[in-house]
Amino acid sequence: LKNLLELSKQILTENDRGGYTIPAKGLYPYQWNWDSALVALGWATLDEGRAWQELEMLFSAQWEDGLVPHIVFHKPSPTYFPGPEIWGTVEQPMGTTGITQPPVAAITVRKLYEEGVNKELAMQKAKELFPKLLAWHRWFQTARDPHGTGLVATLHPWESGMDNSPAWDEPLHNVPVDPIPPYVRKDLGHVDSAMRPKQEEYDRFLTLVYRFRAVNYDCTKLYFLSPFRVTDLCTNAVLYRANLDLRWLATELGENEIAEEIDGWVEKAHKAFDTLYDAEAGMYKSKDQLTGKLLAAKTSAGFLPLFARVASAEQAAALAATLERWLDCVKSGIPSYDPEAANFEPLRYWRGPVWAIINWMITDGLRAYGYEDLACRVEADTYELLVSHGISEYYNPVTGAAAGGKLFSWTAAMCLAWLS
Ligand code: DGY
Repeated sequence: LKNLLELSKQILTENDRGGYTIPAKGLYPYQWNWDSALVALGWATLDEGRAWQELEMLFSAQWEDGLVPHIVFHKPSPTYFPGPEIWGTVEQPMGTTGITQPPVAAITVRKLYEEGVNKELAMQKAKELFPKLLAWHRWFQTARDPHGTGLVATLHPWESGMDNSPAWDEPLHNVPVDPIPPYVRKDLGHVDSAMRPKQEEYDRFLTLVYRFRAVNYDCTKLYFLSPFRVTDLCTNAVLYRANLDLRWLATELGENEIAEEIDGWVEKAHKAFDTLYDAEAGMYKSKDQLTGKLLAAKTSAGFLPLFARVASAEQAAALAATLERWLDCVKSGIPSYDPEAANFEPLRYWRGPVWAIINWMITDGLRAYGYEDLACRVEADTYELLVSHGISEYYNPVTGAAAGGKLFSWTAAMCLAWLS
């Protein structure tokens, strides 16, 4: 373990670009939104000031409308596509994308505030970040749920963080490919193509970017014009949990009216979450907002309502039983996709591989619902993967082999903040 902690520390230090941490050299050379919020948990074990700085750097790129972008292009890099010139968010104070990612930051702020040793620093930083977090969460309510359903829309697979999840196959297939400018992918220069999304997916990822760019990422328009609009379980579960933590912070900071405002969001989301539960499958599912259908794919995001604390005791029991079945099918869990599905691909990104950050979230949820043994099992699997195969982006659940980007920041952060 000592070696693993040393290595994790070294990875964060080497991926530090001066106040923000890149996920991995070459493959992801900028600041990513939910990566940074999770990486800050790792920094907190080494240097609390540096953990707060990670979030400050992320929020320094917040848009006036409240959006916190999915990538911040602090410094130019030739190793990534699509970079700032493709996104073309020229009116913003710094180069960013024009979409967002699962809003982990409030969860991190609460943790840093509650568990931090330097209480004075924690109070000061939480006070500074609180209005920014609130603006982002309000943006979700208005820009992404204009009809007030209680659940927010995700308009691009990159926003879900689970780019090529099998859940997106159908809604993404329904996106027509526009005659977009020719482009060369750079991810395939860093990672084997068998581990990455396919070309037909990239054509649609880019089509969406160009369509959003054409209206200057106007948040009052995107929801209505996007040919991809889903209720993503990961985004909604993370947002639900983040709202609980933001509400907690509001109370700590004496912001009682704001706490009430957040209560309203949580109450509505709580009811709406039941519409995503498939009792027969013992699983939550994402939904295609444009067809109104639940998406058939059973993915690891289906367990995240445990992390959110939005599942009932009965739903939690069904999820725990489903998870046990999944774990029995593989060497190391949690696979990102149902290992019994015909199109399960143990190497391809979000179509099978194990992700340490998702294991952390689900373990946290299992413990909250009293499934300690199952939590320990997932924890032991994760630990074994990291010890035997190093600190990678993701892992093959069948063989345990490391896959994707190497020396990966958020996996290192999980090692420091969770497994140590
Ligand atoms: C990528 O480029 O693969 C990223 O996942 C986009 O966020």
